[in-house]
Amino acid sequence: MNPATHEPLGPEALAPIFPQALIQQEVCQQRWIEIPEPVRRVLAIWRPSPLVRATELEKALGTPARVYFKDESHSPPGSHKPNTAVAQAYYNKQEGVRRLATETGAGQWGSALAFACSMFGLECKVYMVRVSYQQKPYRRSMMEIWGGTVTPSPSEETEAGRKILAQNPDTPGSLGIAISEAVEAAVKDENTKYSLGSILNHVLLHQTIIGLETEKQFDLIGDSPDVVIGCCGGGSNFAGLAFPFLRHRLAGKQIRFIAAEPHACPTMSRGQYRYDFGDTTELTPLLKMFTLGHSFVPPGIHAGGLRYHGMAPLVSLAIKLGLIEPVAYDQIECFEAAKLFAATEGTIPAPETSHAVRAAIVEAERCRQTGEEKCIVFNFSGHGICDLGAYDKFLSGQLEDYQYPQERIEAAIAELPRVD
Ligand SMILES: Cc1ncc(COP(=O)(O)O)c(C=O)c1O
Repeated sequence: MNPATHEPLGPEALAPIFPQALIQQEVCQQRWIEIPEPVRRVLAIWRPSPLVRATELEKALGTPARVYFKDESHSPPGSHKPNTAVAQAYYNKQEGVRRLATETGAGQWGSALAFACSMFGLECKVYMVRVSYQQKPYRRSMMEIWGGTVTPSPSEETEAGRKILAQNPDTPGSLGIAISEAVEAAVKDENTKYSLGSILNHVLLHQTIIGLETEKQFDLIGDSPDVVIGCCGGGSNFAGLAFPFLRHRLAGKQIRFIAAEPHACPTMSRGQYRYDFGDTTELTPLLKMFTLGHSFVPPGIHAGGLRYHGMAPLVSLAIKLGLIEPVAYDQIECFEAAKLFAATEGTIPAPETSHAVRAAIVEAERCRQTGEEKCIVFNFSGHGICDLGAYDKFLSGQLEDYQYPQERIEAAIAELPRVD
């Protein structure tokens, strides 16, 4: 929605920041879109990603449930993010764009876009949320190895950044602020477009390769999920796994969908379903979504990729329709779940992913109590090899849980635009 007129936004309004092909995907109503051959060639570096039965985790939990995870940590940057980064870099390159600007929280998205840009010969400029820039130096190294330029956000480079720094020089930064900076960089330079790693319809579309592969893999082994789980920052890895199965639920099949988020950033469980801006300084169109308010600055928890005030409109609508169940966890219980996962299945989860691991363990334990032999699948959205600083804090007892105060949520919600 256009924030000034409150009219639906036409595709032409998005042209300064996105290439035509992606704008068309954003508004398109086709059920299937073919993945272009050059995109498939790059995805083939790690796809299809493995669907793994977590037999050792099942044993440790003593559950009768069958627990599977779709392992998106095998991509070069280590997460699901390149599924859309590669497609976005390709479509931008096709339309003669020279540079992509973006934001990153934990650094997973920035490194995915830097990787994708290097595959298609594009420049990549990343505004990295300040607290993550300090916590995750090796993510910055990865981006630079793939040729990206990384700036901590808020920065002095943009008007949006200067405005925030003047108000609060010590801000830890947030995804909302970094989005403002990256959008501004794109609007002010005709050779630069903006790239978003989550939230939007075209991003979720690209991620559905996860669920479509999972569906085929389940067919091969003669099983199918009763419960589908993912962690949710902006909703892309969750939707990527869940939406291909959601169509079976809409056709009448009994499948539960669980979306896990942190108590420290409780967008789905305590936010409101309203029109709001996608960024902090109100540059984006209004999106109808679950939101904590665009001025919300969440605490610097280690799951940096889950620190976003909003949620993908498509995921938000499915929650509103009662198709998806949101759950929220504290970071310490998530790190405990991640440690058990690493000790049983091997790979160290990203802090974001640990929320999905936690939710899967809760469901598997419920099956132990009820004796139900459910099939549970969760998205293993990324590994935590660049997040060992967070694990050090957890292991040495320095991590704290944080419940975001209701008054501060209400204050941010009070600033929402009045349109409905
Ligand atoms: C490993 C990982 N999982 C999940 C997320 C959350 O994003 P989304 O909800 O778009 O999948 C991120 C975001 O940075 C991430 O890095």
